[in-house]
Formats: sequence, structure tokens, C-alpha cells
Amino acid sequence: MFEQLKTLPADPILGLNQTFLQDPNPSKINLSVGVYQNAEGLTPIFSAVKKAEQELIDAQTTKSYAPQAGAPDFIEFATKLLLGDAITQALGERAATVMTPGGCGALRMGAELLKQSKPSATLWVSDPTWANHYPLLESAGLTLKRYTYYSSETHGVDFDGMLESLSQIPEGDVVLLHGCCHNPTGADLSQAQWDQVITLLGERNLLPFIDTAYQGFGDGLEQDAYGLRQAATKLPEVLIASSCSKNFGLYRERVGAVTVVTQTEAQTGAAKSHILSAARRSYSMSPYHGGGIVGHLLGRENLRAEWQAELENVRKRMNKLRHGLATGLNDAQSKIDFSFVADSKGMFCYLGIPTQDVLTLRSEYGLYLLESTRFNVAGLSEKNLPVIVERVAEVITR
Ligand code: LMR
Repeated sequence: MFEQLKTLPADPILGLNQTFLQDPNPSKINLSVGVYQNAEGLTPIFSAVKKAEQELIDAQTTKSYAPQAGAPDFIEFATKLLLGDAITQALGERAATVMTPGGCGALRMGAELLKQSKPSATLWVSDPTWANHYPLLESAGLTLKRYTYYSSETHGVDFDGMLESLSQIPEGDVVLLHGCCHNPTGADLSQAQWDQVITLLGERNLLPFIDTAYQGFGDGLEQDAYGLRQAATKLPEVLIASSCSKNFGLYRERVGAVTVVTQTEAQTGAAKSHILSAARRSYSMSPYHGGGIVGHLLGRENLRAEWQAELENVRKRMNKLRHGLATGLNDAQSKIDFSFVADSKGMFCYLGIPTQDVLTLRSEYGLYLLESTRFNVAGLSEKNLPVIVERVAEVITR
């Protein structure tokens, strides 16, 4: 049966992380996969999350099936976290959320819904986008094409190019946008740019599919939801894939959600039934535990406040280290001006150095970043920052 199978190449992100783990170099540093590390290089459990988990376990009396759409308190509070209380209330039954196994599950369920709704629609993704968007969304049967997004000259969003590119997309197609903290570049739209993009999508009858995996890591929980909230307010239909991996630190628990907003309650009900059917055909229903924790936490004022304070500390520390990296690199060499690093948002930025230098950093110094030059800012620490600066400066000025 299986003798003709050839081993596939490793995943560009998870595979590199695996190579890192196997590297015997004692001074190796992991800046590949998007995982937050504290000053000790650990990825601790948020204390509010740990408490919510314990309370959940203590109160649990059964492991019987939960509703197929997910833990009811998760559905309510995760939707409100995304859209805000007022918009959630105003949309009422025009919005529906289904819990999914992580952000990947949410993206996949969104793609399955699109495939059912309009099989001929093309899904347009930013150039560049998260490496896993292609296999994840194409394998649902969608055709993916790219729109202009990033300028490697300015190291920021090529906004004119983006508008021009979006204005060429045929009516009725779908545009995948990163809600905040663009992965891989860290280059985000400003609020004014979001407004323009949303107006254009409305004029051209394009559906936004918003992937938001880093709410709270950019400018703050509310600010990072600006684009998707505007889209949900100004446009008749929106699809959102969200993840709790990073902002709740629940990576391995696989918690995410797909949220669909349509023009009528009946259409939303139909869309939700298609999402549930797609889930049933593949994994039946999302695992409960992680979503149960998030629902429990968000529903309790004390735990929520504690989590928000912890998340804010993470965000501020990441920002400080990001600025430290920009300044450190600029002080250590004069070949490349790295000031743009300080402007990036969230976990990632592109360093924009030659690929050969990325490979040299890996082989000679055990410094792991993706070949695209994507750098995991959340892997920086007060301790490894000077070492990283020294190694990068040395290699790029050879
Ligand atoms: C990343 O981009 O590194 C993270 O989102 C983890 C992943 O699944 O790729």
C-alpha cells in the first residue's frame, strides 16, 4: 500500500524548529517558530490561564461531548474579544462563531465554507504571507493568488501597490488580510490605511477573510482589532479566523475560532451549518479543553484583568527588545540601516539580509531564522540580544 510514497520535505517553519532542537551547538538560539520566550528562555503558562485551567478542572463533572460549535462561554467571550461588546450586540445573530482546533483549524473551516459558497472564487493573499497559508487553504480546493503588500526597499507596506493590486481583483473574490502583526513581515496597515482598504473592498464587492493570530501583541487588544471591527461594521459580510495560541499562550491546546458575518440571520445560520458539517467530515468537533479555559477566564473579571496585565507586560517587553535589536544592530555596523526593525509589529519582522547570511548564521553560529529572513522577535531576551547583535553584525559585514 505505502511502498510508493516518497518522504516529503519538512515544513519550512516546524521543520526548522526540529532541526534547531537536534542541533548539538550549546550556544544555539531559536528565532524560527513563533513562540514567546521570557528572560530565562522559557515559554511559561500565563498565571491567569493556569488558574482558569485549575478552576475549570475542579468544577468539571463530566467529559461527555460539549456542543459541536464549542464551549458556549468561549463562543460568547471570544467573539466579544474580537469584535468588542457593542459590535457583537449590534450584529446579533448575523454573526456566528465556531470553536476550532487552533487558528489553522479556523482558516481551514473558513476555506471549506468559501469552497461551498462559491467554488470559483479566488482567494488573494498578501505577498508575502505566512508559509502555511498555501497548503492549508489550497488543500480545501481554493485557488490562491497574491496581491502586492510588502516593499523590501522601504521595509514597510507598499500601500499604493496594495491598493492598485486590490483594485484589479475581480468582483466577488476573497481577500485574506492579516488582522494585525503581519506574519512574516511585521509590517501592518495604519488605521487610515485599513479604512481605505475596507472602502475599496466594499466598492469592489470583495469579501475580507481576516486572519488574526496576535491580538494584543501589536498595539494592544483593542487597537489590534481595529481593522476587523471596521470591516464587520462597514461591510455586509466578513470571515474571521482567530487563534488563542499566542495571546493566551495555549499553543499546544489548539484553540481558535472561525467567525462569520453575513447579511442576514438566515444566511449566517446556513453558513454555520456548513462549517459544522465540514468539521464533522474531518475531526467532528474541536477539542474542548483549551477553549474551555479561555471561556472560563474571559468570563471572570479577576482572571481577565490578570491575563490582560500579563499580556500587556509581554507586549511591552517584546517592544523593548525589538527597539534594542534595531539600536544594537545600528550601533554595531553601518552597512544596513536597521531602524525599520523598531517599526515592526508583533512577533515577526524581516531582517532583509542576504539568504546566504541567514544560512551562515545558522551553520556557524547556531542562530536560527527562516530563510526568508523572518526573525522571531519574541525569541529575543535581555541575555541573548547582545550575542545576536554581535553575530548578525559580524556575518553581514564580512
Ligand atoms: C509561526 O508562524 O511561526 C507560528 O504561527 C507557528 C506556526 O504554526 O507556523
